[in-house]
Amino acid sequence: MTEAKEAILLVGGKGTRLRPLTVHTPKPMVPAAGVPFLSHQLARARAAGVEHIVLATSYLAEVFEPYFGDGSGLGLHIEYVTELEPLGTGGAIRNAASRLTAAPDEPVLVFNGDILTGLDIRALAATHTASGADVSLHLTRVEDPRAFGLVPTDGDGRVTAFLEKPETPEQIVTDQINAGAYVFRRSVIDTVPAGRPVSVERETFPGLLTAGAHLQGMVDSTYWLDLGTPQAFVRGSADLVLGRAPSPAVPGRCGDRLVLPDASVAPDAKIGGGSVIGEGALVGAGARIDGSAILAGAVVGPGAVIEDSLVGAGARIGERTVLSGAVVGDGARIGADNELRDGIRVWCGAVLPDGAVRFSSDQ
Ligand code: GDD
Ligand code: MG
Repeated sequence: MTEAKEAILLVGGKGTRLRPLTVHTPKPMVPAAGVPFLSHQLARARAAGVEHIVLATSYLAEVFEPYFGDGSGLGLHIEYVTELEPLGTGGAIRNAASRLTAAPDEPVLVFNGDILTGLDIRALAATHTASGADVSLHLTRVEDPRAFGLVPTDGDGRVTAFLEKPETPEQIVTDQINAGAYVFRRSVIDTVPAGRPVSVERETFPGLLTAGAHLQGMVDSTYWLDLGTPQAFVRGSADLVLGRAPSPAVPGRCGDRLVLPDASVAPDAKIGGGSVIGEGALVGAGARIDGSAILAGAVVGPGAVIEDSLVGAGARIGERTVLSGAVVGDGARIGADNELRDGIRVWCGAVLPDGAVRFSSDQ
């Protein structure tokens, strides 16, 4: 069988809340292009023929189920598995496998839950079947591979080593990294030890290689983005709206902007670069918004300038305030005539008075 019908989506672990964007919302549920980020991965898996998805989480599982339910709204059957303590990537896969129905020889997809990608999922499954591998990995090339798993391959694409987050220059042997999408033969998942934390990157993959297993890499230069930082998240949302990152879950047509229902935008406001204006949000006269995500119910005052930034749900941005590369948490209030730049993160609910912060010289 070439097509994989089942998938495990990893959405747990320690670093997966996009704080302080919103304190209670785990990153997979923060809206990107108007819908919870996870919707894009689920819709892409569905479009590639996946029918059954096990969501492996270790915290706040109750935020997923009320939204996605049994998955039938997406044409999927979704099950939820919650770890009592985070089991690591390998432990989470092993734990979720109790819900799989695939036979020992059948392929099972596994996805990191924080990746936005145009990966041809069917092609990965086809590569897996054609090569007869035990596990097949989507690989991508990046300029600086240090924050990732390095995956050198031989002339046939066969994986020769797996080096997670290399620490010495000698370990940087390739610019090919693990892109966080795999096809496992089901029986391989069943060999991962149960009931204890296991890192698929640090333990399972190196162990399989040592034991002589066949790990196959598929290098693919399609759109790929790790949403590990709020800035990356903003970029990803804009790329979804622009259509650079393909997703069937974008509500509406791709283009320069996405204005959701009940949002109100002044006629002379300029919105572009893949910006999203969330439901019920208000954008005042003369405001300029570029490459940014304005979440539901936020208010952008007249003359404000917002680029490459994220404005949380219900937050208020005062008149003439400038945001560039900023993240403003849910419900925060930024007064008029402020200037916030370059990675600043305003905590949820925080209040900044008028004219409190500037970067440019005094006038
Ligand atoms: N259920 C569960 N339990 N999920 C987990 C756990 C856990 O204990 N730990 C991590 N995850 C999930 C995360 O939610 C995320 O979706 C995925 O597994 C990867 O974990 P990260 O913590 O985001 O890892 P990373 O980004 O540092 O590195 C991983 O991704 C890179 C690509 O972005 C590795 O797989 C690298 O090899 C890879 O290059
Ligand atoms: Mg990650």
